[in-house]
Amino acid sequence: MTDGLRLTVLGSGYLGITHAACMASLGFDVLGVDTDGRKVDQLNAGRLPIYEPGLEELLREGLDAGRVRFTTSHAQAAAFGDVHFICTGTPQQTGSDHADLSQVNSCVAALAPLLDGPCLVVGKSTVPVGTARRLAAELSQACPGAELAWNPEFLREGSAVADTLAPDRIVVGVTSGRAEQILRQVYARPLAGGAALIVTSLETAELAKAAANAFLATKISFINAMAEICEAAGGDVRDLAQILGADPRIGPAFLRAGLGYGGGCLPKDIRAFVARAEELGAGASLAFLREVDAINLRRRARTADLAHELAGGNLTGVPVCVLGAAFKPGSDDVRDSPALDVAQILTGMGARVTVYDPAALDNARRARPELSYAPTLADAAQGAHVVLLLTEWQEFTALTPGSLGGIVARRNIIDARNVLDPVLWREAGWEYRALGVAEDAADRARQDASPW
Ligand code: UDX
Repeated sequence: MTDGLRLTVLGSGYLGITHAACMASLGFDVLGVDTDGRKVDQLNAGRLPIYEPGLEELLREGLDAGRVRFTTSHAQAAAFGDVHFICTGTPQQTGSDHADLSQVNSCVAALAPLLDGPCLVVGKSTVPVGTARRLAAELSQACPGAELAWNPEFLREGSAVADTLAPDRIVVGVTSGRAEQILRQVYARPLAGGAALIVTSLETAELAKAAANAFLATKISFINAMAEICEAAGGDVRDLAQILGADPRIGPAFLRAGLGYGGGCLPKDIRAFVARAEELGAGASLAFLREVDAINLRRRARTADLAHELAGGNLTGVPVCVLGAAFKPGSDDVRDSPALDVAQILTGMGARVTVYDPAALDNARRARPELSYAPTLADAAQGAHVVLLLTEWQEFTALTPGSLGGIVARRNIIDARNVLDPVLWREAGWEYRALGVAEDAADRARQDASPW
């Protein structure tokens, strides 16, 4: 089924490792390339530098079967591969909203002169529209037999393996039927499993990723804007989200109001999309995404204000427990983490903050060494005057008012992900606050429901 195609995967971040291991599990011979020799050694030894359920097992299976290995040599990659996947990162540029394309550019610059026969180079990284067309020209100049295609990746952290092996859709931006045929071969198994194939231009393929992330971020910020209105008007955003989500035209996904989105993709991709639109003279079309970003960041400030309020209007020296450092549960990623941002804001307001997370403590320590961390939930909550639930790990959603009540010094809790039962916590004597739920909305709803 693989027709003997040999694949290389350039870049061993989240995307690259997942793609390499998944392609090997589909039966391809895969060579992963990264300039970081330490990472290459680690991967060849079957150890993941990231936390992703199921991925380490898949990597080990590939290594054991001799289907995947990693190298630092672009020359080896050029000699090995029929199809070369570019999976390098495109972080936000320091000091600007634009994407930093240096890794993608240097990867193509390193590979292109070494290619000497027909092959397909496939971009998977998230790039500003127009990048693929430029790279295609550079590539064909360096090696006339080499062709470029763009094939964006929509995987989510925490379900990266399933998203790669059984995606909803596979988007291929191509400039020839030959490139399409090769990509049909590469993705034969997921296509046979029901994934939709959309064949399009290079530009539309690049835009597909930016637009999908922009839509998801807009949905989250929409419900968080409704949360702000609920707070002002005395509503309950959880009920509102349920009502909206029951309309099949809207759908319930990505309507969880709370502290908003973070991570290595949505925040920087939205900003880069706006920056690129402005460059193209189409800034007005995406101006609303600036508000999407602003709503998202306002939730962080609002959460800190709630803590300030619960601490009686002064956080100086107040012991505060922050539950969560990862940008979402099921991940150890702290890039643009709303939880860590709130911890930082509270520290700036004078609070004595202690952070606990079941998986992301090491990364959090590296990213924000100035914050204090505890190895267990109980250690973090010991003597706290205010507890903030900022990432909805199961360990936190399973908390009971009684168990936590025995550890803290004062019963104040902020449920910034709307995952706890307000009635239960209030009945146990806790001052409970949530985002998008007016203080007395839950009690009022219960009274309204009463036949008396
Ligand atoms: C996202 C996209 O989903 C994926 O398709 C793309 O390839 C990369 O970016 P990921 O960053 O892994 O994936 O996280 P995702 O599960 O989308 O969540 C993003 C953020 O939104 C998280 O911080 C999460 O907590 C938040 N979120 C999500 C909400 O606040 N409310 C929701 O209803 C859903």
